[in-house]
Amino acid sequence: MRVHVADHPLVTHKLTVLRDKRTPSPVFRALVEELVTLLAYEATRNVRVESVKISTPVAETSGIAISKPRPLVVPILRAGLGMLEGMVKLVPTAEVGFLGMVRDEQTLKPTTYAERLPEDLSNRQCFILDPMLATGGSLLAAINYLFERGAVDVTAVCLIGAPEGLAMIENATKGREVTIVLGALDEKLNEVGYIVPGLGDAGDRLYGTVG
Ligand code: PRP
Ligand code: URA
Repeated sequence: MRVHVADHPLVTHKLTVLRDKRTPSPVFRALVEELVTLLAYEATRNVRVESVKISTPVAETSGIAISKPRPLVVPILRAGLGMLEGMVKLVPTAEVGFLGMVRDEQTLKPTTYAERLPEDLSNRQCFILDPMLATGGSLLAAINYLFERGAVDVTAVCLIGAPEGLAMIENATKGREVTIVLGALDEKLNEVGYIVPGLGDAGDRLYGTVG
């Protein structure tokens, strides 16, 4: 598994405002979108491309285009939806599929309540969007879904991760092409499965169900 933790002052600055409990939902949403665009730059480093010939007004030359089949972007509802716009701004030709998951706050186990993905993902590069990687249960379920459908490599873009969840995903995906791009790797999970210091409940903060 490849793990990349962003090391850029703009990412850390935006995450600092995002973490602040006084930040209201409209600002939170705008920051999530900006952060994804910054992280997507790293997440798409290995996107498959092919050579193309073009003519500039001056000369014939060659360049690159994103290869077919198109990459698939999969936000995990609800909170991952807040990351979708930022990602497709950077990769406008990507196809989008959806997974709806919710974590039981007592057992911390995820349940899938919605799924809208292409049936056949053979040979596809997939990008999962979810702001929080806590126990890793939701992300692992999403990764497994995509590999079961034939995906060849999966990259997850998360704003904040916990070491416990990252280690769990690493163990459970050995031998698979998995990359995780994080805005920050935090200290730990607390006794109720929240990331510390984290930012609280990402879905609630995005969609205004707190404060
Ligand atoms: C949050 C978050 C992740 C999950 C992370 O979603 O967006 O999907 O929890 O926790 P885990 O790593 O322990 O599985 P939540 O279940 O709260 O649903 P929501 O997006 O609808 O708020
Ligand atoms: N889900 C969240 O939204 N936040 C956490 O800290 C953990 C899981």
